[in-house]
Amino acid sequence: MQSLQITPKNAWLGRRAFLAALGGGAVASAVPFPSLRPSPLSLAEKPNRIEDVTTYNNYYEFGTNKKDPVVNAKSFRTDPWTLRVEGLVSKPLQLSLPEILKLAPLEERVYRFRCVEGWSAVIPWAGYSLSKLIEKAAPRSGARFVAFETYFDEGQMPLAKQGRLAFPYVEGLRLDEAMHPLTLLATGMYGEALPPQNGAPVRLIVPWKYGFKSAKSLVRIRLTNEQPATSWNLKKANEYGFYSNVNPNVPHPRWSQATERRLGELSKRPTLLFNGYEKEVAHLYRDLDLMKNF
Ligand code: MTE
Repeated sequence: MQSLQITPKNAWLGRRAFLAALGGGAVASAVPFPSLRPSPLSLAEKPNRIEDVTTYNNYYEFGTNKKDPVVNAKSFRTDPWTLRVEGLVSKPLQLSLPEILKLAPLEERVYRFRCVEGWSAVIPWAGYSLSKLIEKAAPRSGARFVAFETYFDEGQMPLAKQGRLAFPYVEGLRLDEAMHPLTLLATGMYGEALPPQNGAPVRLIVPWKYGFKSAKSLVRIRLTNEQPATSWNLKKANEYGFYSNVNPNVPHPRWSQATERRLGELSKRPTLLFNGYEKEVAHLYRDLDLMKNF
């Protein structure tokens, strides 16, 4: 499944022009996106077309329909940006986007992405393991969980109220999940900066969990000793568990998780346990009943 090939810059026909037409934040700027290293954690699977994943989004701050974010996030202001790392750390951090981009070499990571609603995609992200950032902040011994808080401004996000979620959108991981090499701090996709509708300028990607765990437009990463309350879990705990590992065997009240539909395809395919990352992550859950801790 692994490939050390970096996806050629021109592999996605018309990609740059497509992103520019979407008004994709830094994409439209004159500053070139940093070059990317290949990663042994990349899949050899064919990525989706960029149109598939930039025009069909969940970003409730910009509306609840899949076609809303590409339109409503167009003028989302992401410059200047500050990301804080705080809580149970010895060296709290406050980083601008250029500082985030320079903190570690950027890699291309081709990952599967699976939404709890039953659709999936394969996406070439740009970024580095979140562990690189957390290590810099020097976690203190009591830290066991990580809370991810995302940007919220009613002025820029007037449609958020339709979402009926607790904003700012918060997600959480156990510290060992956050430190797993697959857990990605993403600043780009398809070789360019993240478009606003996909979580510009910096988001979380946890490829073995349902997509709602992958919080967009991060402003605060807080290490804690207690499991943090999370937006979707507060809304419907029986549908959005804290763990939410992709699992075809755990039934969901609304969407069967046995199969999924890849964006751009008509037929369904079987859902893979841990979204196909079982070998890499199953050890994290050795002592956990996955049916109860969904
Ligand atoms: N992050 C924020 N801040 N707001 C959101 O509404 N939606 C989540 C997640 N991150 C969401 C978010 C959900 S439900 C999914 S499936 C993914 O983002 C969708 O990411 P994509 O639009 O890049 O496919």
